[in-house]
This record gives sequence, structure tokens and C-alpha cells, in this order.
Amino acid sequence: TQHFIGKAHGKIILIGEHAVVYGEPAIALPFKAAPVEVSIEKDTGPVSVSSDYYTGPLEDAPGKLENIKVLLFEIGKELGQTINNLFIKITSHIPPERGMGSSAAVSTALIRALFQYFNVQLNEEQLLAYIDISEKIVHGNPSGIDARVTSSDAPIFYKKNQFFEPFPINISGYLIVADTGKKGQTSHAVADVATLFNDDYEKTTKLIQNIGERAIRAKLAIIHNDLAALGTLLSQTHELLKELTVSDESLDHLVDTALKAGALGAKLTGGGRGGCMIALAQSERYAMVIKNKLIEQGAINTWVHALEGE
Ligand code: PMV
Repeated sequence: TQHFIGKAHGKIILIGEHAVVYGEPAIALPFKAAPVEVSIEKDTGPVSVSSDYYTGPLEDAPGKLENIKVLLFEIGKELGQTINNLFIKITSHIPPERGMGSSAAVSTALIRALFQYFNVQLNEEQLLAYIDISEKIVHGNPSGIDARVTSSDAPIFYKKNQFFEPFPINISGYLIVADTGKKGQTSHAVADVATLFNDDYEKTTKLIQNIGERAIRAKLAIIHNDLAALGTLLSQTHELLKELTVSDESLDHLVDTALKAGALGAKLTGGGRGGCMIALAQSERYAMVIKNKLIEQGAINTWVHALEGE
């Protein structure tokens, strides 16, 4: 049987999380070390799926796969096809609920595979519109960054509800991503930053602006291949995020561990309060040393991601 394959990858926020909620810019990176593949083949009978959560007829799938049902319905309608007789296999290497964009990446790969199956050209605008349908079901009010980065090969500099600007990576370094093993608590962290704003408007405004400035300088460091400057900006931003109260002991411990093991910089990534951190290394050899230290110090999962060549 012929397989129709759609691919996508995870995302990480390099810098600017939380401040981006208040209109500052941020940078998100495609995270190729965490790929997703959806394979579709012809089958008999109703649509069935195989995934980490569930294997069986799509009709009986748990609520978690609701977005997939809706996507198939909408795409079928658009293409004038009854979607039946398909077997959909989802293979994701993105851990869920870690702020890595797993839902957007699965949607991207599924949409790409379906359009291939029906032999219809898919443009970027259509792709983003379909991912948005799915993300609204999964996340309610998505910022749209996951949709763009999981389907793109370029880093994206963005301001919420204003612009998404892809830019070239011109820097040769390695990012180590480490999972604390604690589910990230993005919504709590975002709510607590809002409270901090009420309690001390001036101080919080200053922190947010300082993070935004560093996101702008990080983009320049990436364009000018200044790895050391990028590292410093990442570490400084972790300190600012700590002051915003969105870090926690597990993240701080892994950040310290990475810096002691020779990282050029390190910070939490995404919502904070658990979830993941990132560290920057100048070579693959350093990256492996840092990765091993992070595992020794409690990271339950790590990835090494080459920045070059994106
Ligand atoms: O959890 P993630 O990686 O999708 O990132 C959340 C980023 C925040 O800035 C904290 C929230 C947001 O909506 O931008």
C-alpha cells in the first residue's frame, strides 16, 4: 500500500516568553530534534487512527482527538471528498504539555499528509487556517506562534497580534533542551505575572521591557553570529524571569547546572513553573557534556539541537 507522509516539528521559545503577552517581541525556533510524522494509507471501513493516546476507530476516539475529527470534516468539505477508508498513523516525538507545540505540529503533519493523499496542492495560508481551526479546539485562544513555527524552517521574531517575521539563522551553536519532568504551569504563571503588575506596576513594567530589549538584541546576535552575546542575553533573561516569579527550583537548578558545566547561557523556556529549560553550547562536544550533567541532575529528558542550517 502507498503511504502519504506529512511532517512537522516542535517549537521552543528562545527568548521573550511572558513579556510577549504585554506586547514585547519574542523569538521562537523550529525544534527539529522533536519531529512528528503522520502517515495515511488506504484502508477499508471508517477512518481509524493509531497514536500514543489511542488506537482504533476515530469515531470512538477520546475527546483529546476532537481536533482531528474536526480537521478531517473541514478538509473533506473543502475538497468535496467523503473522508473514509483511511488509516492514520501519528508518530510524535514531541512530549505533550511542555509548551513545545505538540498539538500544532500533529495538525500540521496531518493536514500535509491529507492534501498529499488527495493530491491537492496546499499553500501556506490554507495550512495556517486549518492549524488555527485545530488549535482553537485544543487551546481556546492560541497566539498563532505554534502554528507558524511547527510548520516553518526559520526562526520567527514576533509580536502577539502584530507580526510574525521569519529570519535566517546565521549562528553555529547548539541548544540543549532539558525537561524538568514537571508539567509546565503556563496559565498559573501568566496569571501570577498579571497579579505582579497590579501589585507593582512600575517594577513589573521595567522587567517586561528589559526582557523585550533582550529579545531584540538576541535577534541581532543570531544575525551577526555572536554566540557569546546570545548566551549572556539568555542568562540575563532567566534572572528577569525569576524576578517575574515564573521560574521554580527545578528550573533554577538545571539552569545553574548547565552554566557550571560550561554553557554560554541558560534559561527556562515557555511558560515556566516546571516544563523545560534551554542551554547554549559552542560545540557538539560541550553540548554532550552539558546534556549528561543535566540528566545526572534530574532532567527526565534532553535533546540536542544544532542551530546552524535552519
Ligand atoms: O507554553 P509555551 O511554550 O507555549 O509558551 C507560553 C508563552 C507565554 O509567553 C508564557 C504565554 C503566551 O501566550 O505567549
